Amino acid sequence: MPATTMDQIVSLCKRRGFIFPSSEIYGGLQGLYDYGPLGVELKNNIMQDWWRANVYERDDMEGLDAAILMNRLVWKYSGHEDTFVDPLVDCRNCKSRWRADHVKGKCPNCGSTDLTEPRPFNMMFKTAVGPVADAESFAYLRPETAQGIFVNFANVLATTSRKLPFGIAQIGKGFRNEINPRNFLFRVREFDMMEIEYFVMPGTEDEWHQRWLDDRRAWWESIGVPRERITIYDVPKDELAHYSKRTYDLMYAYPDIGAQEIEGIASRSDYDLGSHSKDQGSLGIQARVNPNSHSTARLTYFDTATNRHLVPFVIEPSAGVGRCFLAVLSEAYDEQMVKAPPPEKLAAVADALAAFLKSVGKSEKISANARDAILDRGQTIAAGLPDALPQIETLLALPGADQIELGKKLRGQAQPLADEHFRTVLHLKPDLAPIKAAVFPLKRNHDGLVALAKDIRKGLQKSGRMRAIYDDTGAIGKLYRRQDEIGTPFCLTVDFQSLEDQTVTVRDRDTMAQERVAVQELEAYLEDRL
Ligand code: GAP
Repeated sequence: MPATTMDQIVSLCKRRGFIFPSSEIYGGLQGLYDYGPLGVELKNNIMQDWWRANVYERDDMEGLDAAILMNRLVWKYSGHEDTFVDPLVDCRNCKSRWRADHVKGKCPNCGSTDLTEPRPFNMMFKTAVGPVADAESFAYLRPETAQGIFVNFANVLATTSRKLPFGIAQIGKGFRNEINPRNFLFRVREFDMMEIEYFVMPGTEDEWHQRWLDDRRAWWESIGVPRERITIYDVPKDELAHYSKRTYDLMYAYPDIGAQEIEGIASRSDYDLGSHSKDQGSLGIQARVNPNSHSTARLTYFDTATNRHLVPFVIEPSAGVGRCFLAVLSEAYDEQMVKAPPPEKLAAVADALAAFLKSVGKSEKISANARDAILDRGQTIAAGLPDALPQIETLLALPGADQIELGKKLRGQAQPLADEHFRTVLHLKPDLAPIKAAVFPLKRNHDGLVALAKDIRKGLQKSGRMRAIYDDTGAIGKLYRRQDEIGTPFCLTVDFQSLEDQTVTVRDRDTMAQERVAVQELEAYLEDRL
């Protein structure tokens, strides 16, 4: 079963080093996160998979990696200086600031109704290029990678001789000064984007829009996000971005926050190339664009069939890597009972949980919001025992829970039972898994076993096709659990038989089935299954 709460994912990411709050030792910076050792592997694997599917496996695509800082005029003519704004309101009582559409007449922080009128706030970060900060050096951090593609359209066309339709793909950082970053990686201020600008003949855009919708849905499924968990939102006209003729938002059913945008697929007409072109009046541009008095290029395509220059239309599939990362983890997440816990031990946990929740209800040490959150989650867990037993750890990690003395007793009862009878497992697609194989010696103080296990790891790693690790820091059962939790598809155990016949036990993460495989055949065996 996928994750049912965002806390399950947050807690796993923290405990296993997928994600760290940015600059944590100095108190952090809101809306910014760092990808830890496992996080960076998963993120890179997602981006590689996207690149492979959209660039290498197609014959109509080029890649690009444009600079993050660009001439300010890019953002003037793209429309972002005027329109990349959120309306915000201030609470006069607690001085907090909110997006106007997130406030229903009342401050979400203190409940006051003393709010300012909404006013526009441009979400682009500003900086200066060079030693003097003045109007000349003023620049923005890009809020999307797309504009780097549009302003390079003529360069790519001239150097590749592409014919329509063709696309340009790019993965890179985007920056948005979000008013209220929230929900972990879902809404942040710095994030990687995977964007395609696909250039088509005017008049064929609706057909290509549909084809891209189908292609992108197939990709999400291929990386482990089932079709039925993504709904399509045909964005109403009055909600469309300034450049869009029509947009389909793919909405993934995230835990806690429900169906939210994971990718937008916009039909951008000839707005972008038209906006960045000189001589606009002679190009037959169909979109309403602002006059451009700075561009030095006509961003057109010469159509040999009609012997004329035209401005291509654009279909743009655009997805955030962080939102993808969250969805992939949520889908892969599973808490499985491996054997039923004894009834008397379960009853003791249920009693400890009830006592803890009673104490939370009476406590004056924690805020009302934190208390409600703990009680809410705690009651759901109590009703869901024994299956929900592993979630007690997540409950005890909620803000304020550490203030309750009885939490220690609850952890003492629940944790050993969860460790022994449950496993958390990430059923990641093997090619997304941060680590592909983990090698263990049955005994860590036996030179022969250790040497062979280290040799095997080295050989697998050297193949350059997989990340393999060696671990001897616990009993085999515990090592299996540790790897299950981070989605390692295969665990290899070197035992005494290995020394005699040069075979090892290979254990499958999902089925937990084990089989013996010859050391010599390991690389081929794993590659087959990865
Ligand atoms: N070039 C088109 C564009 O930028 P967008 O809908 O604003 O469109 C594209 O953003 C994708 O980027 C979204 O579908 C979402 O996955 C991701 N995204 C947008 N804002 C984000 C934020 N503040 N934090 C994390 N991801 C975000």
